[in-house]
Amino acid sequence: MSDKTYPPSSELVANAHVDAAKYEEMYAASIKDPEGFWNEHGKRVDWIKPFTKVKNVNYDFGNVSIKWFEDGSLNVAANCIDRHLATRGDQTAIIWEPDDPTDEAQHITYNELHENVCKMANVFKNLGIGKGDRVVIYLPMIPEAAYAMLACARIGAIHSIVFAGFSPDALGARINGCDAKLVITADTAPRGGRRTKLKDNVNQALLHDTDDVKCLVVKRTGDQIAWRSNDDYWLHEELEKVDADCPPAEMNAEDPLFILYTSGSTGQPKGVVHTTGGYLVWASMTHEITFDYHDGDIFWCTADVGWVTGHSYIVYGPLANGATTLMFEGVPTYPDAGRFWAVCEKHKVNQFYTAPTAIRALMGQGTEFVEKYDLSDLKVLGTVGEPINPEAWNWYNEVVGKGNCPIVDTWWQTETGGHMMTPLPGAHATKPGSAMKPFFGVEPVVLEPTSGEEIHEYPTEGVLCMKDSWPGQMRTVWGDHERFQKTYFSDYKGYYFAGDGCRRDEDGDYWITGRVDDVINVSGHRMGTAEVESALVAHSKVAEAAVVGYPHDIKGQGIYCYVTLMSGEEPSDDLRKELRTWVRQEIGPIAAPDLIQWAPGLPKTRSGKIMRRILRKIAENDYGSLGDTSTLADPSVVDELIENRMNRD
Ligand code: WTA
Repeated sequence: MSDKTYPPSSELVANAHVDAAKYEEMYAASIKDPEGFWNEHGKRVDWIKPFTKVKNVNYDFGNVSIKWFEDGSLNVAANCIDRHLATRGDQTAIIWEPDDPTDEAQHITYNELHENVCKMANVFKNLGIGKGDRVVIYLPMIPEAAYAMLACARIGAIHSIVFAGFSPDALGARINGCDAKLVITADTAPRGGRRTKLKDNVNQALLHDTDDVKCLVVKRTGDQIAWRSNDDYWLHEELEKVDADCPPAEMNAEDPLFILYTSGSTGQPKGVVHTTGGYLVWASMTHEITFDYHDGDIFWCTADVGWVTGHSYIVYGPLANGATTLMFEGVPTYPDAGRFWAVCEKHKVNQFYTAPTAIRALMGQGTEFVEKYDLSDLKVLGTVGEPINPEAWNWYNEVVGKGNCPIVDTWWQTETGGHMMTPLPGAHATKPGSAMKPFFGVEPVVLEPTSGEEIHEYPTEGVLCMKDSWPGQMRTVWGDHERFQKTYFSDYKGYYFAGDGCRRDEDGDYWITGRVDDVINVSGHRMGTAEVESALVAHSKVAEAAVVGYPHDIKGQGIYCYVTLMSGEEPSDDLRKELRTWVRQEIGPIAAPDLIQWAPGLPKTRSGKIMRRILRKIAENDYGSLGDTSTLADPSVVDELIENRMNRD
């Protein structure tokens, strides 16, 4: 923790949507009178039928119900496109930067976006998709991904995007999980000069499909692909059969907009459900205020649309605000470690939003990759996904921002729909590593972890919960409201439990300390340790597995696996490789184990529960402070594990 603070320049403050005084005034109003506050700010989106009820929320376990603007109706795609046509039809809505820098970038205007989305929506309709139907989007970062999202929103279908790095198994589980009628994918996806065979993955995912799930294919590369049967369609052929007239469907504020699967501490990923009205209000308001977005600015969020960050800050937030949003197909290190900065210079990016893991990776490559480029258009820098260490923060500030760009360290989650805590560029003097202050309407509390008592004093540390609802909050887990209540509302009664720990300093500013559950954060991606464990034990040579996180210089956290083999199986480096490949195939490359330790036995209590606390300590190479091990069934197991630990200094 550093004591130094970084106030914004007076020029930035003078032009900011929200300065310090306005933040205080608006924040106080949002907490004192949420109904009045959101009655006003709910009007930032266009309603077909205006709402009269603002908020209807019950946080009591057993009856959790969250509704915002519940009697209003709207269409999200019309808000992101149609309402801008009269004033900015010829303005660029999406700048698309391809993987290969020698290929041409595309500038898609709002008029063109309208035409493309309407046509795709009509293709969906021709394939039998209507209101409430689920469409899985498994696409690379190409404009068609945004068209597909907005086409669903236009006709009231519910999209569920699966990150294109997920394996066929993971994709299949998500297609089944939401009972999708249609999957949209591409032939192959170029990324960092390599190609992923997306259509092949879909074929594998649907190998045993008995529901006749349809598949629509975007021709991205023209690579050869295998066709399944009658249920496969080329998008370009289907587009020839439709016109560009597709009136937006009238949707209730509480109709689902999308499902996004995310990892939790137990079981398989759950389908987080966001609805139309509250989500759009939240995504657009946070986009405008957190990044201090002004008309004419070029906004770039480097996330993939497969994650919530891409949903809220590449597509819905920026487009609802009539912004120009940049979509990048590639990776930060291709063709070299200067790509981000080359793209910033080329497209004159004003707000740049990325993850600490990318900053740490680029930091290691030296400053010359940044200094080659003119970054003078940058005004605000953002970070998201995991705690940012002060070294990375300082590098971002000095080398990229030249000390002139406030850094907004935005803490939020798939579940929250948009930013929850962040400094605002014109309002707060930032501190390296602090998410600083709650956004409007957000009431964070710090609880004592075991008693659940609210701690009012500063400074303090504990688990982070939210006292009340905000419009962008998730509404349920798809198909499992019980799991929703249990996950977020049962540990600490009357609060939304985020799963993170935090510290509140003497100024009342918040610092996120990381997950307090069995979720690990690998390169800013959430990974349930239970998912990796179940992938490992699905291998025929593995008897038992326990997975924990450990500190990793670039990824933030790495995946450390303790594996007990079936009797008769011999540990070897080849088997380690085999298990790594296995997990990559079962889940995807982001879940590949970093370290695998052979564990003849795992530390268990007498009732058979694995003591993960001990495994975490050993993985962190911090075995001097194992705490109480007296409840272990066989304490000698621990000595063996320490002796053979993988993460030695
Ligand atoms: C972590 C990503 C520290 C946190 C938007 C949270 C962060 C999880 C930050 C959600 C931040 C996200 N500082 N930690 N600025 N932002 N996290 O659902 O542990 O992929 O619970 O949403 O990422 O990850 P998710």
